[in-house]
Amino acid sequence: MAVWSAPGKVFLFGEHAVVYGKPGIAMAIKPRVYVTVRKTRHPPRVKSPYLEKCFELMGVNGSVYIHSQLPSSSGLGSSAAVTVATLSAINDEFDLGYGRPEIATMAHSVEKSVQKGRASATDTYVSTFGGVLLIQGGDIKRRLPPEDFHLVIGNTMVSHSTARMVEQVGKFRATDPDIVNPILDAIEAVTMRSLHVFQDQRALGGRYMDINHELLEALGVGGHPALTRLVTAARAAGGAYGAKITGAGGGGSIVALCPKRSKSKIAGAIEGCDGRAIITTIDNEGARKEKEDERNRTDKTRR
Ligand code: MEV
Repeated sequence: MAVWSAPGKVFLFGEHAVVYGKPGIAMAIKPRVYVTVRKTRHPPRVKSPYLEKCFELMGVNGSVYIHSQLPSSSGLGSSAAVTVATLSAINDEFDLGYGRPEIATMAHSVEKSVQKGRASATDTYVSTFGGVLLIQGGDIKRRLPPEDFHLVIGNTMVSHSTARMVEQVGKFRATDPDIVNPILDAIEAVTMRSLHVFQDQRALGGRYMDINHELLEALGVGGHPALTRLVTAARAAGGAYGAKITGAGGGGSIVALCPKRSKSKIAGAIEGCDGRAIITTIDNEGARKEKEDERNRTDKTRR
């Protein structure tokens, strides 16, 4: 039996634009997914397309149990974390000898095939390696210094489909390239400019995260009014430096960058608007092997 876990992530900058080869900055966060894989003579049928693809790609069969601290379909990279932890656990249980870079590449190919060819490498790379990464064109361009950012995530509890949101932006771009391409260029500029003020959280949040949010709205992924409510609550009532949609949008989550002292106030403002708040910081470990008695923490949810 092998037990592995992998963290979720937030996009600080660049979601959607990364699908078109633009840069993005994403950070691994503390909540994780725990996966137990066991060799069995008669493995039960796996129901999730992500898990099915993981076993198919590794060419083996086994049973799998998942315990997740990450809400699914909420923009926090839970499917990538499940995929990374599952591939890592299969690799370990069946002694296949793959290294982290290969796990990240395979996880990306699983996501791409389930999401019908459109998935950037961001979620799977960040979940595999942890930390804050600048990603471009399917590769890690740079590992950024691990900043002590205090984040409050606001989950709207409105589930979304990343594949559908990505497809929606793709259609918008196909019909109105002269509108959408400049928005993607502007997101790229915001991402690159943010690198100049990465240590200045007031500028990072108040200027660049806020602009990135407006650009995502212009791309049409603001969608659900709950997102605007949570962004406004975090900024106005809570005193965040800045706040934006994180992930695919259309529901899912927002992320607020905030002063340490304001975390609880911002979480309260989010909960007051019917969102679910998660106070978190950076995860620097990425995928990791858990002790076998981790099985006591895993529930029997087969996906
Ligand atoms: C989803 O977390 C982020 C998107 O940019 C899609 C992707 O990167 O594959 C919307």
